Amino acid sequence: MKVAGHTFLAKLGKKKLRPGGVKGTNFLFKNAEITKDSLVLEVACNMATSAIKIAKKYKCKMVICDLDENVLKIAEANVKKAKLEDKIKIVKADAKNLPFDNEMFDVVINEAMLTMLSDVNKQKAVSEYFRVLKKGGRLATHDVLLFSEDIETQKNIKAELSRAINVHASPFTNNGWRNLFLENGFSKVINNFGKMSLMNPIGMIRDEGFFNTIRIIRRGLKRENKQQFKTMFNVFKKHKNNLGYFVAVSVKE
Ligand SMILES: C[S@@+](CC[C@H](N)C(=O)[O-])C[C@H]1O[C@@H](n2cnc3c(N)ncnc32)[C@H](O)[C@@H]1O
Repeated sequence: MKVAGHTFLAKLGKKKLRPGGVKGTNFLFKNAEITKDSLVLEVACNMATSAIKIAKKYKCKMVICDLDENVLKIAEANVKKAKLEDKIKIVKADAKNLPFDNEMFDVVINEAMLTMLSDVNKQKAVSEYFRVLKKGGRLATHDVLLFSEDIETQKNIKAELSRAINVHASPFTNNGWRNLFLENGFSKVINNFGKMSLMNPIGMIRDEGFFNTIRIIRRGLKRENKQQFKTMFNVFKKHKNNLGYFVAVSVKE
């Protein structure tokens, strides 16, 4: 059975499941103003790769959530292995309806998830992030970026991408993403963008290391994985000039 692209890549051993990899995430770390006193919420934590890095780097407390119970079990094991149970609390939650009080968090992080939601649900999730952030708080997001402004080209890319990764995918352009945050109450958006690194060999080596990349590609080319691996690889390659990553830190003033 064909699974979602991120589930498939995780099964092959890939740990960074976001379009701009560590390069994009480092931009967020630089601009999110996390300190050891921050309370940080990560939405769509998956296996807690980013959360563990953040809790170690800043020594801050975190609440992390995801909709998928299976990945939360892996997150729990990873947090335990990193001995960070006193710093990281794991909760099952939907980004569109967060079970947290108003103005609770200093920083909300959400990587590689909004792209997968419909446009209406993107609005719901971002308004939830605004609600749970304290005044002066920062939202750090990392998503797929469309370079082309041509509507037909955008439609084709969205359809091919959704088929290849087996989940709904509707990335925005630079202005589309910026407007999403500004329309939901954020007063300032600090953003950056670049080329996709998710399945690009150089990006993969940067994100996963040389030997892990070889291991991931070898597993991807095994008979049972080959079709999905090649489909995803070919779609990302075909649209490499029209697909990128968009990172933003949006401020609630
Ligand atoms: C592509 S993975 C990204 C994981 C991680 N943030 C990273 O960058 O490596 C997308 C994650 O979003 C989660 N997700 C999808 N819809 C969600 C929602 N409505 N609320 C919370 N999590 C959601 C999925 O379960 C999955 O773990």
